[in-house]
Amino acid sequence: MLDLDSPLAMDVRIGMTRYPKRLPPRWLYDETGSRLFDEITRLPEYYPTEAERHILREHAAEIVHLSGATTVVELGSGTSDKTTTLLDAFAAQQSLRAFVPVDVSVEVLNEATHRLRARYPWVDVTPVVADFTESLPIPVGGTRLVAFLGGTLGNFYPDERRLFLEHLARATTSGDYILLGTDIVKSADRLIAAYADEAGVTERFILNVLNVINNELDARFEPGTFQYIPIWDAPNTRMDLRLRSLCDQQVPIPGARVTASFSEGEEIRVEISTKFRITDVAEECAAVGLAPIRTFTDPAGDFALTLVRHA
Ligand code: SAH
Ligand code: AVI
Repeated sequence: MLDLDSPLAMDVRIGMTRYPKRLPPRWLYDETGSRLFDEITRLPEYYPTEAERHILREHAAEIVHLSGATTVVELGSGTSDKTTTLLDAFAAQQSLRAFVPVDVSVEVLNEATHRLRARYPWVDVTPVVADFTESLPIPVGGTRLVAFLGGTLGNFYPDERRLFLEHLARATTSGDYILLGTDIVKSADRLIAAYADEAGVTERFILNVLNVINNELDARFEPGTFQYIPIWDAPNTRMDLRLRSLCDQQVPIPGARVTASFSEGEEIRVEISTKFRITDVAEECAAVGLAPIRTFTDPAGDFALTLVRHA
């Protein structure tokens, strides 16, 4: 039975009837999408993962020391692969009691939990399946460090980002810390290469959202009739990843009780990936009352980790 009021049905109904058409990026991450994202992190062109791992390797001990956290909550945790660099530093200090990975992607979350429990048997690993735009499941007690890695903050539009940071400020209390990973503005060539990889993995990742809608809402999208369009939007310093219809077409989406009409060339905005200037994140955090403590970067200045404190 299709649930016409499911979050996906509602997002699709709204997103396919507005102009320009737009979908929230969380729907990219069914099991296939999560595996494709994992592949992206290993592509030679996709520099953010290794740059962030480098920063974590260099500065994890300092982050542990500065935060004094006993609980780490990771939002959009995925495989939590890089996070082990941070958790290893906590383990060295024997200070971590609980780890709470939060993600919408159940399979990946479960696999990660299994691995983390084996690696840190003394840590209470409690996975939470949740949409971080709806709730921030931060457990009570101890000093908390909320990690939001990978640059996922950049996947919000500016108004959503502000709202999310306000929620984070409200969900934490005095003495808690937040660690935000963000990608840095760089040459258009490198940015475009990172999202238009030679192997076509990013293209498959973005097109997969149509399969998600087909599978979940009995829709009849034909992915072959859409072209992946990665655009560097310089004024807004963001990659804008779209799908362009190659023909006039009507796509029935019974599970959302809507038919999406496309004219040839019409686009769906699937995801943005904002790139920041080095001081932007600290400023945006300060604007919602969070106190920036330190910003760490890799030697090439490709990526930043900003540590902020709930004052
Ligand atoms: N933190 C990992 C994964 C980043 S990919 C890294 O740095 O490599 C983004 C992750 O966020 C995916 O695992 C995806 O399933 C999750 N995600 C996306 N939107 C979400 C939402 N609204 N709520 C919770 N998780 C979400
Ligand atoms: C999860 N997020 C930070 C990735 C990014 O780079 O914005 C998602 C992604 N989309 C295409 N490639 C990677």
